[in-house]
Amino acid sequence: MTTKTPWNDGRLCYGGDWNPEQWPPEVWREDVALMRAAGVDLVTVGVFAWSRLEPEPGRYTLDWLDDVLDLLHSAGIRAALATPTASPPPWFSLRHPDALPVTADGVRLTHGSRDTYCAAAPAYRDAARSIAEVLAARYAHHPALALWHVHNEYGTTCHCPHTEAAFRRWLTTRYDDLDALNDAWVTTFWSQYYSDWAQVGTPRATQYLANPGQVLDFRRFWSDTLLSAYTEQRDLLRAANPAVPVTTNYVLGDWVPVDHARWAREVDLVAIDHYPSATDLGAEEQTAFAADLARGWARHGAGRPVPWLLMESAPNQIHTAGRMHTKKPGRMTRHSLAHVARGSAGVMFFQWRAPVGGAERFHSAVVSHAGADTRVFREASNLGAALGRLAGTAPGRVQAAVAIAYDAASGWALRHPGMPRDGLDHPGEAAAVHRALWHAGVTADVVPPGAPLDGARLLVLPALYLASDATVDWVRRHVHDGGHLLVTWLSGVADEHARVRLGGYPGAYRDLLGVRVEEFHPLADDEHVPLSGGGTGRIWSETVHPAGAETISAYAGGVLDGRPAITRHRVGDAYAWYVSTRPDDGTYRRLLTEVAGLAGVVPACPGAPSGVEAVRRQDGLLYLLNHTDRPQRVPAAGLDLLTGATVDGELTVAPGGVAVVREETP
Ligand code: GAL
Repeated sequence: MTTKTPWNDGRLCYGGDWNPEQWPPEVWREDVALMRAAGVDLVTVGVFAWSRLEPEPGRYTLDWLDDVLDLLHSAGIRAALATPTASPPPWFSLRHPDALPVTADGVRLTHGSRDTYCAAAPAYRDAARSIAEVLAARYAHHPALALWHVHNEYGTTCHCPHTEAAFRRWLTTRYDDLDALNDAWVTTFWSQYYSDWAQVGTPRATQYLANPGQVLDFRRFWSDTLLSAYTEQRDLLRAANPAVPVTTNYVLGDWVPVDHARWAREVDLVAIDHYPSATDLGAEEQTAFAADLARGWARHGAGRPVPWLLMESAPNQIHTAGRMHTKKPGRMTRHSLAHVARGSAGVMFFQWRAPVGGAERFHSAVVSHAGADTRVFREASNLGAALGRLAGTAPGRVQAAVAIAYDAASGWALRHPGMPRDGLDHPGEAAAVHRALWHAGVTADVVPPGAPLDGARLLVLPALYLASDATVDWVRRHVHDGGHLLVTWLSGVADEHARVRLGGYPGAYRDLLGVRVEEFHPLADDEHVPLSGGGTGRIWSETVHPAGAETISAYAGGVLDGRPAITRHRVGDAYAWYVSTRPDDGTYRRLLTEVAGLAGVVPACPGAPSGVEAVRRQDGLLYLLNHTDRPQRVPAAGLDLLTGATVDGELTVAPGGVAVVREETP
């Protein structure tokens, strides 16, 4: 099967969300001229344009979109044409009040923002298919069309009667009968036994803690329901022209009821939106993690490798709760090229031009309210030129010998009510491991459980709470094939229904790790436990009994004084490590450096100074990103593709700068 891509010959895509529906045609022409000046070659069009495309039910006004696509084509710019189904117009909501979403406490929302629909409501699904069909019929063979961009960031839920009926139908296909559901949800607890399917509902607001099995299945149900909303649009778009790839942009975060790894099977390329929330070096750490997540979904989730693309990112500010933080010059470029280094097929922004009004009027844009005579536009143009110099390099495979397991359902399950501590966070723990390795200069893959681990010398399970029998087999096979393993607290504690595996924690991996955990001692937010090997533990601690493992570091103080905190178990020629607390960042970095070293894993660019991110790829490219404000010298040899300079043993990367070296083959 050939991979469908929106680019040719390894060209990197460059562009972003463009909203011509907000502007008169003279601005379109100015925009297109500016796009050409900036090196833009792909724009997402129409993503929130439903009310401009269908101002009244069944009355379509597409002439403006004809003009827009023709204009793009005449300028050599391709379109990622979006279906506008993430924002139904007001007429739709008023006509179909039953398709408006209902919150867990029974409030029916109304239009006035976006995403105000229930994806299980037949009227919404019919309307979404209709507008997608109209676009497919008109544009499937338009020469500007490079990619279909379905919807925007699927991620909504609902508790309306349509949802309840759909949830019940979904449950009847998941469970053979009601007894199996009762068993999976452990409904013997608190007299929740269901004697008829009609009694089973969505986890609405209730008196006290909800049933964890029900909450987990509700998330899974939404992931499948939203996926079917996507695939029915995809199928009709594909039918109109099978040569055009189809995707939808993923929004990241474990609040999203979407299992992105499973969804990867249904897209022609994985597209992610990434907006770091940290303002310090954390933004660069988050960028690397998000890119590695996307690469893992694209490579392993799909069952066949598909490309991935950074579909949205901010050309300027980082948004935190309460304030926007301006990115210093060069930072946007480093964030963008960090994604490209890690395999993205290009760089796309939200948004091209800042609107005069609307909720996101102050969101950053390539063309800001000040126009194009700005440092942001100049930096974007320089980035466009840099991407041009990298033509022929996409998409590149990254060299990595560590795999971090990431599983949406484990993230959801750890957020359940009634856990031993609030704030348990599988994505956060995966990111902490990734960050420690990032600082150690070691590149990691982030993979769904079950992914092939051929190149991985070390597998890490970071608070991977749920373990199906298949996941346990996967981990065992890795270790028995000689791979090293590091497991952190709360991994393998429960099965896929979130039922605890008995006999001492972590039930799924006790024998591999050579430990038995008797009880948990969750820590307060401001609590730190000293560790005998140096550093401290946070968030969590446990009573660990060695059962074959040696103690590497013990708790030093408190009720667990002298008991194992970090252990190591020899299995064949490899080690299986257990980490029963969250080491502070420095300690984690040292630990993972040692663990990786013993597994034979080396940094991507040994000798690269701290603050320089290095990514080495299988196509012979070495990306070097200098996140410091000083020039940094890095050992390298080859050709710097961005400057054209020969690199002869050492390269100086400018403060905040980037180099891409095509390495000499020895
Ligand atoms: C994305 C979304 C865009 C825009 C952006 C703002 O999540 O897809 O439409 O809202 O956030 O950062």
